[in-house]
Amino acid sequence: MRKILVAGNWKMHGSKAMVSELLEGLLAGSSADGKADLLVFPPFPYLPLTESVLAGTHIRYGGQNLNPNAQGAHTGETSGGMLKDFGCHYALVGHSERRAIYGESDHDVALRFKAALDAGLHPILCVGETLEEREEGQTEAVVARQLDAVIEFVGIESFRKAVIAYEPVWAIGTGLTATPEQAQSVHAFIRDKLTSLNVIIAGQLRILYGGSVNGSNAAELFAQSDIDGGLVGGASLTAEAFLAIYSAID
Ligand code: PGA
Repeated sequence: MRKILVAGNWKMHGSKAMVSELLEGLLAGSSADGKADLLVFPPFPYLPLTESVLAGTHIRYGGQNLNPNAQGAHTGETSGGMLKDFGCHYALVGHSERRAIYGESDHDVALRFKAALDAGLHPILCVGETLEEREEGQTEAVVARQLDAVIEFVGIESFRKAVIAYEPVWAIGTGLTATPEQAQSVHAFIRDKLTSLNVIIAGQLRILYGGSVNGSNAAELFAQSDIDGGLVGGASLTAEAFLAIYSAID
């Protein structure tokens, strides 16, 4: 049985005051024996503060990205080992904003996925098509290409510790959500693809949906058989909005 995972990607939002208030609110409104696991991705400078509030609690946290290298002359970058040093359990890799704005290729994403594993972190691999690709009927081909780049580089066994997030680019931050049927169809495609490589890993792997998830649409999305939670941007920035998603799970 896959437990629902609700992950909040704060992107480049926050301040010390906001982070403290948000994390305290999440702790107060959730519990270790709740129906979902909670996870947050603060911007790097807030990881020490996050560690001080969340260490020893039921809420996990991670880095929004990591450099493929373990250390070295990479000005402005952060390694998986550094994330681990601050108590992170997870790292996002291949978010569509990293791919589109910062030019990360499928291979760059594979390198980061491996770096996360090497550092002892669980990578959350983000995949998803643009609106143009969907309209051209390329959704499955794009998602398959993004997955294959990682599978061919690290092997299917490495997905034992991973999470996948399907995030149609056209649904991120737009208020447009994939319908539960649209999302389920891509999630099933992803799981079938992994099943052909390893049935056990495919059965255990959590596949999150991302793209304008909120308290009103979460229950219907998470009720789909291959949707195991959400990767949430905008609605993860206040405890109230994020807990509305957490509470929507039954
Ligand atoms: P959104 O972002 O919930 O604001 O659409 C999701 C994401 O980018 O992970």
